[in-house]
Amino acid sequence: MPNPLLLAAGRSARMRGVVTSVPLTRNVVDRFVAGERLEEAIRAVRELRESGLKVTLDHLGEDTTDRRQADATRDAYLALFAALDEEGLTGGSEASLKLSALGQALDGGLALDNARAVCAEAARLGMTVTLDMEDHTTVDSTLDILGKLRADFPWVGVAVQAMLRRSEDDLRDLAHEGSRVRLVKGAYAEPASVAFQGKSEVDRAYVRALRVLMDGEGHPMVATHDPRMIEIAKALAVRAGRPVGSYEFQMLYGIRAGEQRRLAERHGMRVYVPYGVDWYGYFMRRLAERPANLVFFLRSFVSR
Ligand code: FDA
Repeated sequence: MPNPLLLAAGRSARMRGVVTSVPLTRNVVDRFVAGERLEEAIRAVRELRESGLKVTLDHLGEDTTDRRQADATRDAYLALFAALDEEGLTGGSEASLKLSALGQALDGGLALDNARAVCAEAARLGMTVTLDMEDHTTVDSTLDILGKLRADFPWVGVAVQAMLRRSEDDLRDLAHEGSRVRLVKGAYAEPASVAFQGKSEVDRAYVRALRVLMDGEGHPMVATHDPRMIEIAKALAVRAGRPVGSYEFQMLYGIRAGEQRRLAERHGMRVYVPYGVDWYGYFMRRLAERPANLVFFLRSFVSR
């Protein structure tokens, strides 16, 4: 499971200063992040769509403690949508929102208003929106905001983390018709009181959650790079009599790109494309979930 030390480093302002000031870091960051600028994100979207992949875009940023910054994040999504529209890339595309970047910690009302503005524009352009799930302290507030958004925009989706002990119950409430749930294992360091610990426990929870979603009435979004989970999801979809198109697979930009294209051909694949200058927290979570990425990162320094 994610390395807790690296996750802690991902929250340290001091480490952020060190890691982001080293120019060589960029080479490794580029593997996981489409770019710092909007134009780079648009280029990545075009390339992915040309290979038969759908996208969900994440304007990087989280844990905002400043109202102006929260509004700026909302405006960044609106600018992204305008650019996608200009390039004819809106159809079938999606945005992923971190409510903490839209002001969730400041005031639930602010995050809701900002998310509502993003959803209204997505609706106008025929796009969809899914809410990311952050650490366990934010789950109640995120599900509450989801419910309010869905009153006007019933297609708004949400990520659910299989590692949290509460998630199986949450999923039973969410697996209704029209509901879109992105099932992930969970990328945050969580205490044993609220979360399963260790890969095999989390994998078992992921399979139980898959069963609930595949047997339910909603649209499961199976977000994992794990070949075993992918095979189990395919088998459960067949067992539940689900036609292709009534569920989809999702992976992160830069991870298992060949498999992304293979799955797209038969099952549908959406790639999560992060972009923007505030890549540090996201990047550290990617290092934390796979020791080989850390080795790759360190090697890029010594091989120079
Ligand atoms: P696991 O970590 O067990 O990895 C299985 C295999 O996948 C590895 O053996 C390796 O081959 C490959 N792999 C996994 N991670 C890799 C990496 N970083 N680099 C290279 N290879 C890697 N989390 C969260 O808490 N809230 C959220 O909202 C989201 N949103 C989200 C959206 C989408 C589309 C995806 C795919 C994932 C998320 N996540 C997330 C992250 C998720 O919780 C989880 O941390 C990662 O997906 C890694 O877990 P896996 O399911 O891939 O399995």
